[in-house]
Amino acid sequence: MALKQPRHGGRGDRDLEANPVFSREPVRVPRYALPAGEMDPDTAYQMVHDELMLDGTARLNLATFVTTWAEPQALRLMDECVAKNMIDKDEYPQTAELEMRCVQMLARLWHAPDARRAVGCSTTGSSEAAMLGGLALKRRWRHRRDARGRRADRPNLVMGVNVQICWEKFADYFEVEPRYVPMEGDRYHLSPEAAVALCDENTIGVVAVLGSTFDGSYEPVAELAARLDDLHERTGLDVPVHVDGASGAMIAPFLDPELEWDFRLPRVASINTSGHKYGLVMPGVGWVLWRDDDALPDDLVFDVSYLGGRIPTFALNFSRPGAQVVAQYYNFLRLGFEGYRRVQQTCRDIATRLAREIAALGPFELLTDGGQAPVFAFRLRDDVTGYSVFDVSAALRERGWLVPAYTFPPNRTDLAVLRIVVRNGFSHDLADLLLEDLRRVLPRLERQDRPQRCAGDATAFAHGAESGDPRRHGRR
Ligand SMILES: Cc1ncc(COP(=O)(O)O)c(C=O)c1O
Repeated sequence: MALKQPRHGGRGDRDLEANPVFSREPVRVPRYALPAGEMDPDTAYQMVHDELMLDGTARLNLATFVTTWAEPQALRLMDECVAKNMIDKDEYPQTAELEMRCVQMLARLWHAPDARRAVGCSTTGSSEAAMLGGLALKRRWRHRRDARGRRADRPNLVMGVNVQICWEKFADYFEVEPRYVPMEGDRYHLSPEAAVALCDENTIGVVAVLGSTFDGSYEPVAELAARLDDLHERTGLDVPVHVDGASGAMIAPFLDPELEWDFRLPRVASINTSGHKYGLVMPGVGWVLWRDDDALPDDLVFDVSYLGGRIPTFALNFSRPGAQVVAQYYNFLRLGFEGYRRVQQTCRDIATRLAREIAALGPFELLTDGGQAPVFAFRLRDDVTGYSVFDVSAALRERGWLVPAYTFPPNRTDLAVLRIVVRNGFSHDLADLLLEDLRRVLPRLERQDRPQRCAGDATAFAHGAESGDPRRHGRR
């Protein structure tokens, strides 16, 4: 048989005989400095693709609240819109129209008294939405103080110590004193009574969380509103509420329609949610709505003329992808109320069953049972001394499950928990596989005479809930 002769003395024929991509990779890749020259796109793609194999599997990431599964049609639409900049509203008027339709749908879902008067916008996520909600509270408070000729230099914001880190950032970045209601005993979120006790004439608002990051519980928004109404009557202090419904504002309307937490309560001025959590869109999109245009001071809204037309904008970012907003509209159109209800009910069913079965294993005790946001936290019983929740998290990670372990904030810093977030795409079958793995690792952990890992060893993957000392500025 004749041997193939290399033509042109080059690599051409060798390339035909073996997959050439790997032999084309440079021996050493400059990782932190811009390479001097170009590289073939297939080779560059393969290198980046291969490196990312070291990431965890998104669907097994039970730490995140953020969507990890979407329908192919939603992904196709996102692909088609990948070049659209959300800010170019004059150039992409239909994308802007879809954003406004989503705002209207959410206003109705959250019972705005007059949905046509509700104002709102999309954001990059709940964090940006929280900044905008907080800024509106601060500006309204300043206007009220200015109108009465009172000092407006010491604003404060009242919230539970369980708030997600975005609220700590808001307070820090925008110079508002954060006033935290601590946890107490088995109460792992804000108490209305303690929150009202922290309010004074400098309080710009109270944040209530629907679906606490720490354990998935709903804070008692209606009771908080009632107590603030009472405070108003007694003292004249009129303190509005912002509801951080990052998760819960897309769960409660479908599964707990009787629960009053939204614009049905006149004291609720604004609400945020993450479209990319239980709104079921891939990251990143969030939403923030005000009950009416009085709740959003005009002087926060900028008019931009250089986009063609005069476009009002209230946002921290200028440019931002439009694809997620389109996908949000697709989901609303595709699922409708009943579709969302079924998806969220499935998540709740899986969360509550998994919580029950984990509690039945023996060593664990539930803090929550997944019956509000489909999220639950559980701890080890006091008589388990040979291993820690951090050991359990590490053991599950050996099989690819990402289940965060973290400690609680004051006054429950003694408490270390594991937390599971059930999302669309985490099926009963996957829940069974997780349970099997948990059963498999427990006998090994039970042979330990003391814990191998503690809070300091945990990787920070509890999505803004993990907190050794949560009130330290710029915590890392
Ligand atoms: C209650 C709450 N608020 C805000 C956020 C921040 O949301 P995002 O990640 O969309 O910025 C989270 C994230 O987990 C959350 O749980």
